[in-house]
Amino acid sequence: MSHQPLHAMTLCEILRDLGGTTPTRAPVKYAEIGVEQGRTLSLILRNLPSVHAWAVDTWESYDMSDAQHQGESYGIVPKSTQQENYRLALEALDPWTKVGGRCRVYRMPSVLAADALSRAGEKMHCVFIDADHREAAVYADIKAGWPLVAPGGILCGHDFGSWYGVERAVGWFMDEEPAANKLDVLPGYVWAIKRPSVKAIEPPSVV
Ligand SMILES: C[S@@+](CC[C@H](N)C(=O)[O-])C[C@H]1O[C@@H](n2cnc3c(N)ncnc32)[C@H](O)[C@@H]1O
Repeated sequence: MSHQPLHAMTLCEILRDLGGTTPTRAPVKYAEIGVEQGRTLSLILRNLPSVHAWAVDTWESYDMSDAQHQGESYGIVPKSTQQENYRLALEALDPWTKVGGRCRVYRMPSVLAADALSRAGEKMHCVFIDADHREAAVYADIKAGWPLVAPGGILCGHDFGSWYGVERAVGWFMDEEPAANKLDVLPGYVWAIKRPSVKAIEPPSVV
């Protein structure tokens, strides 16, 4: 795995650790918000058989003009590139997307998908945010993703420290959400916040 991007290796480690906390053979539920060509997700599914994945992406043209990557602006990602990315993602994820497979593809906007999954009562062990990198969009993804994370699970994302908007959005969320009390920045520009586990209710003491 050493030739793979560092953020993908970091995610594998997070998911492996989370697997240790679920009962034997229980699936580790993982949502990737922003899939592009499915490179990270296919690596995870190939290496971690306990992972069941929800793959969310519009694969539509989107505007990166105001997003800043180490001081540089990016332009619009065109529809033609996105059509090709969609084709490549379906090809990469094909071994796991058949009926009864471990990966479901949601071609829709991130916030709508997260809300729909939350309303359906889904809870994920890990939600990874890597979609539109403009600060308002990252913040919206964090707000929509947090309720989807099970107690003891991890909300995380890519490009902390390399994309200005990501740091700002994560900072806003940390300031306002009391349960988000510790931010970790991991190798490969991955940020991670653990959702506190529900505390066991203490039995009344016998007098
Ligand atoms: C940086 S790429 C994802 C890379 C992928 N996570 C990986 O590691 O290989 C960003 C992706 O986010 C998607 N995206 C942008 N805005 C989105 C939105 N509002 N909802 C869903 N996906 C979006 C784009 O289509 C693009 O494919």
